[in-house]
Amino acid sequence: MMGIIGGTGVYRIVERGDLKEKTIINTPYGESPPISIFMLEDQELAFLPRHKEGHDLPPHMINYRANVYALKKLGVDGILATNAVGSLNESLKPGEFLIPDDFLDFTRARPFTFYNDRAVHVDVTQPYCPQLRETLISTGKKVDGRVVDGGVYVCTEGPRFETPAEIHMFRQIGGAVVGMTGLPEVVLARELEMCYATICMVSNYAASVSSEKITIDEVFDVVEQKKKVLTELIYNSILNIPLDRNCPCSRALEGAEIE
Ligand code: HPA
Repeated sequence: MMGIIGGTGVYRIVERGDLKEKTIINTPYGESPPISIFMLEDQELAFLPRHKEGHDLPPHMINYRANVYALKKLGVDGILATNAVGSLNESLKPGEFLIPDDFLDFTRARPFTFYNDRAVHVDVTQPYCPQLRETLISTGKKVDGRVVDGGVYVCTEGPRFETPAEIHMFRQIGGAVVGMTGLPEVVLARELEMCYATICMVSNYAASVSSEKITIDEVFDVVEQKKKVLTELIYNSILNIPLDRNCPCSRALEGAEIE
C-alpha cells in the first residue's frame, strides 16, 4: 500500500478518493494523527497530515517516528510526501516543484532514529527512492507547471526562518531548497525499509534571495494556489508506480548491522 504524508496546507488530499475510515494508530513512540484510509480507483491508500489537521504542530514538535511507524504498521511500503520550501536561487520560483535527490541535515534536537538499542547504520547514498522519484518526474512532465528533477533539500530546525548568512552558506554548500520538515522523516522511512520520495513545493524565495520579508501567510497562499496541481501530481504518480519495484529500499537493513 502507498502512503501520503501531507505537509503545510495539505490536509485533505483524500477529497478525490473514496474515504473508508479514519484511524489513530498506537505506536511505541505515541499516537499517530488521524490517518485516512481511502480508495483511489482500485488502490487502497493511507493519508497522514504531518502537522495534524489545521497546522497545530510546529516542525520541531512533530512526532516523526510515530508518523512513519504508524504507516508501516498499516502495511504501507512506499511514501510520497510533500514539503513547503524556500528557494535558494532566483531561477527556482514560488509555485514550482522540485523532487530532491539528496539532503543536508541541519536539524538539532529531534529523535532521528528507531534504533537506540543497537547500532544500525543505514546507507543513504541514494536517500530518496530512485523508483518513486522517477515516477514523480515522468508524471510531472504531464501536469501544469514546472517539476525540477533533483536538487539538495536543506532541513533546518526552525521554527524561525533563516538568516541571510545561513542562506548564503546553504547555497555555497550546494543546497537548492530549504525547509523544516523533511528530516528525519526520509531517514526513518529508510530505517523501516520503506520507499520514500517527496515533492517540494516552492512557497517563497528564502531569506535574502528576495528582499521581501517572509511571512507564513505567503507560504499558505502559494500552497493553496498550487494544491490542485499537487494533488494531481500525487494521484497520477500513485497510479503510475510500478507494482513490482526493483529499488533497494526494501532491503535497507541488509549490511546495516554488525553480524
Ligand atoms: N525556510 C524554511 N522553511 C520553509 C521556508 C523557508 O524559507 N518556506 C517554507 N518552509
